[in-house]
Amino acid sequence: MLIAANWKMFKTQAETLAFCNHFRAPDGVDVVIAPPYASLQVALSSGLTIYAQNVHWEDEGPFTGEISPPMLTELGVAGAIVGHSERRQYFGETDETAARRAAHALDAGLSVIACVGELEAEREQGETESVLRRQLARFAAHERLVIAYEPVWAIGTGKTATPELAQEAHAFVKSLIDVPVLYGGSVKPENAAELLSQPDVDGALVGGASLDVDSFTEICREAIRS
Ligand code: PGA
Repeated sequence: MLIAANWKMFKTQAETLAFCNHFRAPDGVDVVIAPPYASLQVALSSGLTIYAQNVHWEDEGPFTGEISPPMLTELGVAGAIVGHSERRQYFGETDETAARRAAHALDAGLSVIACVGELEAEREQGETESVLRRQLARFAAHERLVIAYEPVWAIGTGKTATPELAQEAHAFVKSLIDVPVLYGGSVKPENAAELLSQPDVDGALVGGASLDVDSFTEICREAIRS
């Protein structure tokens, strides 16, 4: 089981340090924290496994605001999230750029959590499977690649997919690409057990509930029990 914390644009260095000083990753679960870039170094000093929230498809170049795989590996960062729905929604990320980011990061030795998931309207129109097929078409299985299935309507909304719905989507993702699949979207201590006990749910990508040491620790404990 892998439980990954996506802190998004939350936590200064001081707040990162405070979290890391209090958080003890429970034994028996793989834990990853993805803080904002400016807090990477502080987070790394904790000895936890640290990912970036994005990574570029070139090693260097005129790409203002971007960060490259060698810059992350030099720091000691172990991996990166790519293709998060907020990147797609607000920053022009496409299936193609997400896949390029993932491929280059994997080549550079980083691990990757690649995010996919349908919009609410797409689910209502019965397009979930075709959206997932399109989003995953450019990805190839890799030993350091993990997919996060995050239905966009469940992210930060408090609307969690039912365990059955998550299981169905995960099984479909696995029929397309044979890698572990995390569930993301309003995962909380109260719903973690039922989601994580589904056979094709291999962990979680947690946003809001990962910002608090106690709730994140509880989710990690649920992963061990599942
Ligand atoms: P959430 O975010 O847990 O706050 O819904 C999940 C994510 O965006 O990765």
